[in-house]
Order: sequence, then C-alpha cells, then structure tokens
Amino acid sequence: MSITTRLKAGVKAALGRPAVPIHNLPSISQAGTLRTVYFHECLKKVAHLDGSLVECGVGQGYGLCTWLTLTALEPKQRVIWAFDSFEGFPKFAKEDETSAVREAGYAQYKQFDLLYVFNTMKSFGLSPAEINRRISFAKGFIPQSLNLYDKSPVALLHLDLDIFEPYRDALDFFWEFVVPGGVVMFDEYNKALDIFKFPGAQKAINDFLDARNLRGALRKDTTYGNVYIQKPDIA
Ligand SMILES: C[S@@+](CC[C@H](N)C(=O)[O-])C[C@H]1O[C@@H](n2cnc3c(N)ncnc32)[C@H](O)[C@@H]1O
Repeated sequence: MSITTRLKAGVKAALGRPAVPIHNLPSISQAGTLRTVYFHECLKKVAHLDGSLVECGVGQGYGLCTWLTLTALEPKQRVIWAFDSFEGFPKFAKEDETSAVREAGYAQYKQFDLLYVFNTMKSFGLSPAEINRRISFAKGFIPQSLNLYDKSPVALLHLDLDIFEPYRDALDFFWEFVVPGGVVMFDEYNKALDIFKFPGAQKAINDFLDARNLRGALRKDTTYGNVYIQKPDIA
C-alpha cells in the first residue's frame, strides 16, 4: 500500500470514530505563547526563594495549567494556591464603571466551577493526582476567602482579577506575606486598552503603589507587555 493510500485510510478511519470529547482548551496563539514565556521569566526571578505561588483569579484555569507545568520543572516543589469564587464575578464597584459595557461578557465566568477547571487541567494533560497534590483551591469570594490562606510566605503572587475591590483586598492582604525579592504580577495594567477595559484594577494597583511609594518599582515585561514588581528588601 502506498503512503498516500495509507494516509487516506487513516484519515477515513479517524473520521469514522466517534468524536473524543476534548474539554474547552485554548487553541495555540501568539499571545498565549508569549504569556507562557513571561510566566517563566517571573518564575526564574524567584527560583532561589522559598514560598508558595498564589494565583488570584482562576477563570477557566489556563494560567493554573501553565503554572503547574512550569513549577514542575523547578527544583523547589512549591504549593500553588488558587483563589476564585468559581462561580463568576461579584458586583462591580463604581471604580469599574467603564467595564459595565463588558458585564454581559463576564456572565460566562459563572460556568467555570471547580469541576470545570479540574477538567480543563486534565484535558491539558495534568494528572488528577498531581493537581490534588500541588494545588490548594481556595473557593469563595475575596475578601472573605482570604481567611482560607495558611499565611505561609509567598514567592510569587499573580493577580488576574480584573476589577477594583478584589484587586485592592488581595494586594492589601498578601503583601505582608510576599518575601523580599518576591514577585507580584499584575495582569491588568497599562497594556493597550487596559485603562478602558479595567479602570478599577488600574486604580487599585495605583493606590497600592502610591501608598507604599512603589511606583518606581514597576517593571514592564518585554515579551508579553505586562507589569510586575519585585518586593524591595525594606517595604
Ligand atoms: C480573567 S479571570 C482569570 C483568568 C485566569 N487567570 C487565566 O489565566 O485563565 C478573572 C477571575 O477572577 C475571579 N474573581 C473576580 N472577582 C473575584 C472575587 N471577589 N473573589 C473571587 N474571585 C473573583 C472571577 O471569578 C474570574 O474567574
């Protein structure tokens, strides 16, 4: 049988099979790839530090998949904390008012419950045993759910909450646990259109930085374009 005939036979057989249910995984994209590089760069900055990795805002779990994969390559086996309501967004504050136009789009987040995120991670290729061993899921609305945190040192804090109040509350709460040299990553700040899409998040971040005289510590990542700070020794 020629190679073309074999290929055609293979395709025909594949088409005849029932569809394999693949969970809603993101397709490959330039932005997704650059984001992974950015995550890795930040992780390398804290490679020598003890402490957990905290993800605030899980959504469908894409960031969590990336974090679990990248941290598995590190010699330090960090605990990953995952904070989310796992039932969508709370009410927006007045600081988020220009986001109101996007509120319809936010309704989709209601479906991303723990089971949904777990299935995303399994479809991504992560084993349930590893997910359970490495991730502490903290379900509930911030700020109440912050009580679930074990108050251990934080090496890396990734904030991807989109709106004012949880950004403000998570920053105020976690800052004291971030170790000197630890990294705080802001997903919504100063990228193209962020000020229109996430005015509340920008305000919370600016208020936080101004209160601690940290504006000068902001660094812009050159691959993905997001900003982060590294906690100074005295802060
Ligand atoms: C943009 S998504 C996060 C995306 C995720 N980091 C990723 O990489 O796929 C924002 C998430 O923040 C969560 N969120 C917003 N406000 C919250 C609050 N007050 N408490 C808990 N979760 C909140 C929403 O439920 C939503 O899942």
